[in-house]
Amino acid sequence: MVNKITIIGAGNMGGALAKGWTRAGMATDITATARTRRTLDDLVAACPNINVSLDNRKAVEGADAVVLAVKPWVAQQVIEDIAPELEGKLVISVVAGFRHDRIDVYAMPNIAAEFGQSMTFVEEAPRAKEAATLFERVGECRIVPRRLMEPGMMLAGCGIAYVFRFIRALMEGGVEMGFYPDDAKCIAMQTMQGAVALLRETGLHPEAAIDKVTTPGGITIKGLNELDHAGFNSAVIRCLKAGLGK
Ligand SMILES: NC(=O)c1ccc[n+]([C@@H]2O[C@H](COP(=O)([O-])OP(=O)(O)OC[C@H]3O[C@@H](n4cnc5c(N)ncnc54)[C@H](OP(=O)(O)O)[C@@H]3O)[C@@H](O)[C@H]2O)c1
Repeated sequence: MVNKITIIGAGNMGGALAKGWTRAGMATDITATARTRRTLDDLVAACPNINVSLDNRKAVEGADAVVLAVKPWVAQQVIEDIAPELEGKLVISVVAGFRHDRIDVYAMPNIAAEFGQSMTFVEEAPRAKEAATLFERVGECRIVPRRLMEPGMMLAGCGIAYVFRFIRALMEGGVEMGFYPDDAKCIAMQTMQGAVALLRETGLHPEAAIDKVTTPGGITIKGLNELDHAGFNSAVIRCLKAGLGK
């Protein structure tokens, strides 16, 4: 049973988890660390109930679970510094491409964890279910074999950035056609939300949903074919595969 979580590295990802877990109302004691006081002050401003510390070792004392969320190039040093305090604790890492003997569970969430909407992958391991229970509080979580961790990271961890880029493209098109940027953003987001809701509710394949929108000889199919001529599908697939095996 995890009652106390310590997050080492309260940056974009660690901070999102801290806020997400706090907002999920977990009856859990959450402590977060960072390199600078400023990061911790920002976090406290967003989550007044959170405990913060600049001392990683002290912060992990008494924790049930420790989540490593620093950049890959500092992870080795950080885990070696806290290693003496990790005995018996569930050690989870969200650090991309970093492996260490002392890590029990590798996880790959995304920053929508802050709003309870992460898509998280947890690598199969003896303690994977314990870790998954935590990530389920901040979105959807799947336990997958190691071979699917990198693809999962590209689809969801990095994928959220690709979705942002698609929204930006819709916005720019909207502005070119006459909408103000803020309006274009709202329209793009609501359209995306509608598409997701429709697929979720009906279980339709995206192409079957597209059939419902396209009139033979109409304007929707003209736009879709233009995307194909520009290599849209291929560009997305190449984008997802670009980060594999790094
Ligand atoms: N960002 C994402 O979308 C995402 C998604 C999945 C996984 N990840 C993984 O999450 C990790 C962090 O990425 P990020 O984007 O969140 O980076 P980030 O915003 O730079 O956050 C890293 C945090 O680590 C803190 N830090 C640095 N050295 C430290 C130390 N010695 N002890 C304690 N804290 C220390 C930094 O503190 P200061 O702020 O004070 O410098 C910063 O808050 C990476 O390994 C990445 O692979 C990120």
